[in-house]
Amino acid sequence: MTNQQKKYIKNRPKALLLLRNVFLKMCIKSQFCIVLLLRFRLKGTLILILFQVLDNMMLLIQKIAKRALTLIAILFFSHFAAVAAPDGQAIFKANCASCHNPLKDATGPALQGVDTRVPSKEWLYKWVKNSSSVIASGDKYANDLYNKWGKTAMTAFPNLSNEEIDAVVTYVNSVKPVTKGPEGISASSDSKEDGGWLYPLITLSLLGLAIILWRVNKSLRRVAAANMGTTTKKEIPFYRHKVLIAIAAIIVFIGAGFFIVNGGIQMGRQQNYKPEQPIFYSHKVHAGINQINCLYCHSGAEKSRQAMVPSANVCMNCHKGIKEYTGAADHPLVTAEGIKVDGTAEIQKLYDYAGWDPEKKEYKRDAAGNILAKPIEWVKIHNLPDHVYFNHSQHVAVGQIQCQRCHGPIEEMDEVYQFSPLSMGWCVNCHRQTNVQFESNNYYSLYKKYHAELKEGKRTGVTVEDIGGLECQKCHY
Ligand code: HEC
Ligand code: HEC
Ligand code: HEC
Ligand code: HEC
Ligand code: HEC
Ligand code: HEC
Repeated sequence: MTNQQKKYIKNRPKALLLLRNVFLKMCIKSQFCIVLLLRFRLKGTLILILFQVLDNMMLLIQKIAKRALTLIAILFFSHFAAVAAPDGQAIFKANCASCHNPLKDATGPALQGVDTRVPSKEWLYKWVKNSSSVIASGDKYANDLYNKWGKTAMTAFPNLSNEEIDAVVTYVNSVKPVTKGPEGISASSDSKEDGGWLYPLITLSLLGLAIILWRVNKSLRRVAAANMGTTTKKEIPFYRHKVLIAIAAIIVFIGAGFFIVNGGIQMGRQQNYKPEQPIFYSHKVHAGINQINCLYCHSGAEKSRQAMVPSANVCMNCHKGIKEYTGAADHPLVTAEGIKVDGTAEIQKLYDYAGWDPEKKEYKRDAAGNILAKPIEWVKIHNLPDHVYFNHSQHVAVGQIQCQRCHGPIEEMDEVYQFSPLSMGWCVNCHRQTNVQFESNNYYSLYKKYHAELKEGKRTGVTVEDIGGLECQKCHY
């Protein structure tokens, strides 16, 4: 700016100032007058550039908002379209699941692939709407089926439409066998990520927006500079820009640190770990169906740090007598991979380990009279790191905590898997939330203050945290 101009700006009359402001406001609305203004080299170009940037941003945001609105509208309507079609899973659960399983025979046959084995679609509709009328009509397939299933009559569903029955068939055919353990978990976490694409999309568009704004800003500044007669400094490419390099280094440092520390903490954790065991020993058969007490085999859980896994002798207390598995009809044994297991052969494996001869009903011995037994090498599933002290009896006997709270529904598992994460957060959270068995326990007579407070009604319970369950040295050597 020349001195003359500066003087003019300082001394210009108020009315002119007002006029300029109005002009400015109008200008902000238009895209092009900024160049005009720059020609006049008015003071406040920089503010104008700012306005211009804001203006551009508003335009962009408006455009994005419009796009987003249409997208949302499309999603919204397609959602309704999906809802309008009958929900096969819901219909199946509400009407058919009491007797049918998609994959396994139950009261009625497994329904997967039913559309390909029944005589026709029409037959299927008629059957579901009223199976007894189809049987009464003398239809051969229907009568064979009815007889095969012990003449159990299926409920009639006259209210179901053909589309609804089709939806059930589609659902039933889409069901995949469930596997517990890591595979199952990964499968379910996949479905959890539905819609997750939205976040990367938003991030990307915001990033794009940032780049566009940055470029707009830059070119405007260049125009301004050119018009003011000053030349811009030589451009530094972004990969040699010190500030950018510093920022990138910090981001990389923090990110890498996060992943390394997180990875280090996760190391050795094995939630859902389900190894293959030397004998297919089913907790469901023993602790579930045959109701054998956990402590019969894991007697240590009540008395010591370790719960302990029983030796073959404990198994033989019963299995001298029980030579075969007769429960296969009610509870067929299958591995996580879906391979059928012969329970009787598994009991024979136990005999091989224990050195038992089921024919002679005696232990096999070598010349010196020692029993020819070898230990069963069970694979240990739960493993806390060495720096942690955990005591079963403290939790089971003193704390009166059910095994299942930490180990999950063991009595439902054919093959045991690690149910809980066994992380520090897991231990600590439970200690924060769980009350100790306080009142009737002499062990805690020391805590006079808590007893008094309980009596006065000042507190409703004493958590493990209150008695020091969060102190580092209680759990760490
Ligand atoms: C009260 C138990 C029961 C209910 C509820 C039930 N079914 Fe059945 N279903 C059976 C039985 C039992 C059979 C075997 C034939 C017989 O004994 O009548 C069967 C057979 C069938 C068959 C023929 C299977 C084949 O292998 O050809 C189809 C299809 C079928 N059911 C579909 C359905 C549908 C769809 C529903 C729910 C809307 C349903 N069922 C609800 C008990 C039931
Ligand atoms: C008849 C004996 C028997 C009974 C009863 C029994 N278990 Fe076991 N348990 C075993 C054997 C053998 C293993 C080792 C093989 C395995 O992991 O399946 C084991 C393993 C376990 C493991 C995994 C140990 C590891 O390796 O980390 C847990 C947890 C467990 N049992 C809990 C229970 C609970 C809870 C109950 C009661 C609901 C119970 N058990 C009943 C014999 C038994
Ligand atoms: C308190 C009695 C008892 C004890 C102890 C016991 N079992 Fe069993 N076991 C049974 C019964 C009951 C069945 C089911 C038999 C049936 O259904 O015909 C069975 C079935 C089995 C089967 C076939 C089904 C399956 O789970 O694969 C195997 C293998 C087996 N036991 C192994 C063992 C082993 C190994 C031990 C020691 C860790 C053990 N049992 C301890 C009572 C016992
Ligand atoms: C407060 C949680 C908790 C409760 C309650 C609990 N456990 Fe455990 N259990 C664990 C942890 C943690 C481990 C891993 C211990 C280790 O690696 O040192 C474990 C390990 C085991 C093991 C593997 C062998 C061993 O001793 O390390 C068996 C078997 C077991 N528990 C059985 C049981 C039974 C049976 C009960 C019920 C009577 C029970 N647990 C109750 C947390 C619990
Ligand atoms: C399901 C809840 C639960 C979980 C999970 C649990 N605890 Fe506990 N813990 C308790 C309760 C309840 C007590 C109090 C027992 C009592 O009355 O003394 C306790 C007590 C303790 C104590 C004694 C505290 C004291 O002040 O005397 C230690 C040590 C301990 N737990 C370690 C662990 C560790 C290590 C883990 C994780 C591997 C763990 N606990 C997981 C419930 C839990
Ligand atoms: C209730 C029991 C409990 C208490 C109290 C406890 N820890 Fe831990 N801590 C654990 C267990 C269990 C692990 C093992 C976690 C794993 O395997 O990932 C652990 C692991 C750690 C680790 C290794 C990193 C990790 O997360 O695995 C550090 C460090 C640690 N604890 C520090 C502390 C400090 C410091 C305190 C006191 C403020 C404390 N702990 C109190 C149970 C406890």
